[in-house]
Amino acid sequence: MESRTDKERLLGHRGAVVWFTGLSGSGKSTLAIALERELSARGILCRILDGDNVRCGINAGLGFSEADRRENIRRVAEVCRLFVDTGVVVLACFVSPTRELRRMAREIVGTEDFCEVYVATPLGECERRDVKGLYAKARRGEIRDFTGISAPFEVPERPELRIDTSGRSVGACTEQLLQHLLPQITHNRELSSEADRIGNIRTEK
Ligand code: ADX
Repeated sequence: MESRTDKERLLGHRGAVVWFTGLSGSGKSTLAIALERELSARGILCRILDGDNVRCGINAGLGFSEADRRENIRRVAEVCRLFVDTGVVVLACFVSPTRELRRMAREIVGTEDFCEVYVATPLGECERRDVKGLYAKARRGEIRDFTGISAPFEVPERPELRIDTSGRSVGACTEQLLQHLLPQITHNRELSSEADRIGNIRTEK
């Protein structure tokens, strides 16, 4: 079986997990989509994982109790690990509201491959945006255990990055992310020339 290094050589960059944590509506997915575009333009293979694509598929049937959120994050982190071993950069967008949940995700992925990004948009701003109308429902008591309203969100103590989106453009936030991540992901870009070499050999054949 080919190793992670083989895969990273093929792709010309390292695998990693960018773990976006923050309240619902804080901008995690918006930033991940913008970041994916920038990384793709630089030849870096990405995969976005978020509540929308995971909770409808492998995690269908999981709700928002403490136990279900834990199982949600455990499975997602295991999937992240598989992607990292394939050399892919995973952009994981999960509320992951407690330190314990984020610690578990970091442990499963491996801390050297894990970059925690706290999207620190204040609750008031998330509630004002209320893109999905969920805050209004939570206030009316129609959704139980809603993070920030009727369930806790513990602020990350030592994230690798902290981004406050209020009053800042998506472009400015993405730039902050790129500056931090690019050196980590591409620090051995000589891998890239190795990938070219392998590509040439295959083409010649
Ligand atoms: S996590 O807590 O287990 O990490 P996850 O990120 O997968 O949560 O899903 C959060 C998304 O589910 C929110 O953005 C929101 O759209 C939706 N959602 C529905 N019910 C809840 C709830 N009770 N608490 C938080 N998010 C909820």
